[in-house]
Amino acid sequence: TIKKAKESGKGQINPCIRKDINKVVDFIDIEDITEKASLCRCWRSKNWPYCDGAHGAHNRATGDNTGPVVVRHKEN
Ligand code: FES
Repeated sequence: TIKKAKESGKGQINPCIRKDINKVVDFIDIEDITEKASLCRCWRSKNWPYCDGAHGAHNRATGDNTGPVVVRHKEN
C-alpha cells in the first residue's frame, strides 16, 4: 500500500528534505537571480533547493549521473 511504501521510504527519491510535508515545492523569484542559480536535482543538497555539490558523492557511491539544473541569463 502507499502507506507502507511511505513508511519504509522504499522507492523514494527524496531521502531527507522536509519529510514532514506532503510535497516539496520551492519558489525562486527570477529577479533575485543575479548571475546564475544551480538547482539541486539529486535531493541531497544541504543547501536545498540549491546545489551544494552533494551530487558528486552520490554519483560516486551509486554510479548515478545526477547534476544540477543551472538557471542563467542569456549571454549577450
Ligand atoms: Fe544535488 Fe548538486 S547537490 S544536484
